[in-house]
Amino acid sequence: MADHHEMTKTTPKEFVAATLGGLFAPGLAIFLIVMLVVAIQSRMGGQDAEAVADKAVRERIKPFGVSVAVDPNKPHIDMTGEQVYNEVCTNCHGSGALGSPKFKDAGAWGKRIAQGWPTLLEHAMKGFNKMPARGGEPDLTDLEVARGIAYMANAAGAKFEPVLKKESVPTEAELARGKAVYAENCASCHDTGVTGAQKLSDAKAWEPLLKEGKDYLYTAAIKGTFGGPAKGGNEKLSDADTRMAVDYMVEQAKASVAKAAKPEKKAAK
Ligand code: HEC
Ligand code: HEC
Repeated sequence: MADHHEMTKTTPKEFVAATLGGLFAPGLAIFLIVMLVVAIQSRMGGQDAEAVADKAVRERIKPFGVSVAVDPNKPHIDMTGEQVYNEVCTNCHGSGALGSPKFKDAGAWGKRIAQGWPTLLEHAMKGFNKMPARGGEPDLTDLEVARGIAYMANAAGAKFEPVLKKESVPTEAELARGKAVYAENCASCHDTGVTGAQKLSDAKAWEPLLKEGKDYLYTAAIKGTFGGPAKGGNEKLSDADTRMAVDYMVEQAKASVAKAAKPEKKAAK
């Protein structure tokens, strides 16, 4: 017994060397195989691994997503938020798949809810990282997507109404205030076109600007652009007043665009 023990005794150094050697050889083999597979894959598709994985997931969830079969003869009735969730969103949000905020997980939803409704709506409509547009179900109506978001966010503590984003319509009083602010701070450039400012009567200049949407124009007016000064150069002007001036400008510019569009249509006839 003692002899046997004597014969097989290994020093700690030998033990470590043997262990590392034993691990290293198969480790190296695995590493080489992985490198080979990666090399073949990248040569075959030229796609990166993430895109491949992403596609694989979308393929896998497809059977669930397509289940919202609609009889084309029936008038479409928008699903409730709960129905939308159960049909589509639960495929990921039920388990937190792909890193999605899990249903009822207030911690996971908190920061997202804090971004505000318009951001959540936009991300769910257009897609956001691994969140596919409309949850991967293009047949969902805008309202259904909105209801799905509200259902999930509210289950995690929010109090959203599933409204679709609309540009706020200024009241008469706001427009009147905007007109006054404009006359005082903005007209000097935007009535004349001085320094390249877009004249309110210049439909061509305003058409692309109007397409950017009011949020863009508000920010441009408040922060300034390359050529345009912040708040028309009047530091004391409040953000709210600047926005109302923009509301007035947009109103005027829309009228110019409409006026310019009419003779064009007649000419086309
Ligand atoms: C294929 C899986 C998948 C499906 C199906 C899915 N989501 Fe998501 N969703 C995600 C992932 C992943 C994220 C997190 C994205 C990130 O933050 O990078 C996410 C995030 C979100 C967010 C938060 C966005 C933000 O700005 O933080 C909302 C809102 C959302 N999903 C709504 C929905 C709705 C509504 C549905 C059903 C109509 C749905 N999702 C279906 C994967 C999915
Ligand atoms: C000193 C001249 C000047 C004044 C005053 C001025 N602007 Fe401008 N503004 C410009 C110029 C120049 C541009 C064009 C900038 C460009 O081409 O990007 C512009 C552009 C804009 C735009 C379009 C943003 C874009 O991307 O071009 C908005 C909106 C705007 N101004 C709002 C205002 C408002 C509101 C006021 C008054 C509070 C104001 N401006 C006063 C010169 C002025």
